[in-house]
Amino acid sequence: MTHHLSVEDVIADLLGQWGHDSYNLLQILIGVQQVFSHVPSAALDLIADKLSLTRANLEGVIGFYSFLHTQPRGLYDLLISDNIVDQMSGSRELAGLLAQRLGVEPGTTREDGVVSLGYTSCTGMGDQGPAALVNNHALTSLTPQRIEQIAGLIEERMPLGEWPQELFAVSENIQRRDLLLDNDLQEGAAIDAVVSRGAEQLLGELEASGLRGRGGAGFRTALKWRFCRDASAAERVVVCNADEGEPGTFKDRVLLQADADRLFEGMTLCAGVIGASRGFLYLRAEYLYLLEDLQQELQRRRDANLLGEAILGQAGFDFDIEIHLGAGAYICGEESALIESLEGKRGIPRIRPPFPVTEGYRGRPTVVNNVETLIAAAMIAANGAEWFRSRGTDDSAGTKLLSISGDCKRPGVYEYPYGVSLETILHDCGAEDVQAVQVAGPAGQCVPPSEFDRSIAFEDLSTGGSIMIFSRQRDLLNVVENFSDFFVHESCGFCTPCRVGTTLLQKRLHKVVSGHATSEDLVMMERLGSLMRESSHCGLGATAANPVLDGMEKFPELFAARLKSTSFEPAFDLDAALEEARQISGRDDAGAHIEGGGI
Ligand SMILES: Cc1cc2nc3c(=O)[nH]c(=O)nc-3n(C[C@H](O)[C@H](O)[C@H](O)COP(=O)(O)O)c2cc1C
Ligand code: SF4
Repeated sequence: MTHHLSVEDVIADLLGQWGHDSYNLLQILIGVQQVFSHVPSAALDLIADKLSLTRANLEGVIGFYSFLHTQPRGLYDLLISDNIVDQMSGSRELAGLLAQRLGVEPGTTREDGVVSLGYTSCTGMGDQGPAALVNNHALTSLTPQRIEQIAGLIEERMPLGEWPQELFAVSENIQRRDLLLDNDLQEGAAIDAVVSRGAEQLLGELEASGLRGRGGAGFRTALKWRFCRDASAAERVVVCNADEGEPGTFKDRVLLQADADRLFEGMTLCAGVIGASRGFLYLRAEYLYLLEDLQQELQRRRDANLLGEAILGQAGFDFDIEIHLGAGAYICGEESALIESLEGKRGIPRIRPPFPVTEGYRGRPTVVNNVETLIAAAMIAANGAEWFRSRGTDDSAGTKLLSISGDCKRPGVYEYPYGVSLETILHDCGAEDVQAVQVAGPAGQCVPPSEFDRSIAFEDLSTGGSIMIFSRQRDLLNVVENFSDFFVHESCGFCTPCRVGTTLLQKRLHKVVSGHATSEDLVMMERLGSLMRESSHCGLGATAANPVLDGMEKFPELFAARLKSTSFEPAFDLDAALEEARQISGRDDAGAHIEGGGI
C-alpha cells in the first residue's frame, strides 16, 4: 500500500536483495506485488531487462501463480478460504455479507480500487475458520460481527497494521501431545550428534528408527538421505517442504509457529549427514504471517553458530537456510514442482527420473522433506532409534500429527502413535453421528462408519495429516463437488488428462448434484477417472478423480438417488452455448443450430 515508492527504486532494492539472480525471479515478483498490489507493466520490462529474460517469461510465471497479478487489485485484497470445512462453518454466507456491505462482487475489484473480493483454496486454518486472507495476512474465526468490523475498517481506509490484532490471532490448538510434542530438544543436540558420531552412524540410526516421510508418500528418510549423500556433486541442497496445501491440513503451520528451532535443527542435521551447504524453507504464501519470526529464528541460530560457517566449530561444516515464499499454487507442494518454483519458474512437475536426490535445485542433489519429518529426524538423532520405535507399528514407526477439523467438538492438532484407529480419534475429538471421515484430503479416502476400526498407518490409511469429519447432517455430494472444484482450480494445466479430465469430471458431477444425470454419466465418470489415474503426468492428476471414484464406490446410494433417469442427457449443451453467438450474428436459422449438440 506504499504507492509513493517508485517502481525503479523498489526493483533496484529487490534485485539487490535477491542477488540479481534470475533463479530468484519468483521472489522478486512477489516482492513487487507486495508493494504495488500487482506487478505493473513498467516493472515487467525493467526486471526482464535486468535479468536478461523476456517479458513473456515473466508473464508466464505471473500467470501460473494465483497470488500474482498484472492488473491492480484493491488496496485491500480479500480472499475467502473455500475449503469445504470453511464452507460448513458459513464462509460462503459471510462472503455474501461482505460483498453486500462493501458493494463488490466476489471475483472483482470495486470501481474505486479500494477492495477486491475472491475465493482461494484452503488457507490452513480449518480448526479456526471460517478464514480469509487480506493482502496475504490470515484472518481467522470470522463471524457476521467481524465481517461488519472488517467492512468498517476498509471503508475508513484503516492501514492493516492498525487493525485490531485479535482479527489475525492464530491459535496453535494442540489437543494431544505424544513423542514429538511432549519432548524438548536441547538446542544443538542433533547437530552435535552428527559432528561427534559421524554421518554414517547417524544414517544407521535413522535407518533403524524406520522413519518415513510425513508429507504423504512415506518414502524412507534414511534411504533418501543416503541416495543424496552418494550422488557425486560439488554442492548439495536441503529443502523443507512447508507448502502444506492439502485442504484440511494445518499441522505444519503449528510446527512452524511453535517449533521452528527444531525444524532448522533437523535441516542442519540433514545438511551434516548428506554434506549440503545450502538450505531452503519453501513457505506457502498463506503463512506469510510467520515469515518475520522464522527469519529472526534463523538469525538467532547464526549468532549461536548453529548456522553459517564452521557450525559448532567444525571446519568445513558450512550451511545456511533461505526462506522462499510460494504464491498460491497447490501443485508446488509436489517436490519437483517445488524445485521449479524455487528456481523462480512456473511450478510444473518435472519428468522423473532423474529424481531430486540426484538432480534437484539447479541440478544439484537435493533432499526434499516435510516439516514434521525433519523435526522427527532431529529428535531421533538426539534420542535414538529405540526411543522412536517405542511408538507406532512395525511398518509405521513413531507418531503422526493429525489436523482434525469439521464436525467435532474439539478440532485442532493431535499427535498419535501410528496405528491409532479412527474410532479412537473420533471419540477423542468429540465427533458424534458421523457419516464419513475424509482421510488425507481430497486426494485421499472417504471412510464410512463401517470402516472406523481402520487405523492411521502407512499400511492402512496413509495420510499427510488431514482428517475432515462429516456428520449425517451434511450432503456428501457437496463435499465431493468441493473437492472436484479444488482440482479444477489447482491442475497446473501441463498435461491433457488432468487439465481436461478435471473439468469434464466437474461438469458431470454438477450434473449429478443438480439432478440431471443418468446412469450413463456415472459410467463416463468412472472411465474418465481411470484414464486420469493411468495417464496423468503427476500425483495431482493421478488422484484428482479419487473423490468421485471413492464416493461412487463407498456411497453409491447417494449418487443413485440423484439420477434423473437411465437415459442420456448431455452434460454440456452445445446448442444452448451457441445462443449468444446467434444473438450477436442475428441468425437463428437451422444452420445456426447443432442437433444433438451435447457432450
Ligand atoms: C500434488 C502434490 C502436493 C503435495 N504437497 C505436499 C505438501 O504440501 N507438503 C509436503 O510435505 N509434501 C507434499 N507432497 C509430497 C512431496 O512431493 C514429497 O513427497 C514430500 O515433500 C517429501 O517429504 P517427506 O519424505 O518428508 O514426506 C505433495 C505431493 C503431490 C503429488
Ligand atoms: S497431472 Fe495435473 S498437476 Fe500434474 S502435471 Fe499434469 S496437469 Fe499438472
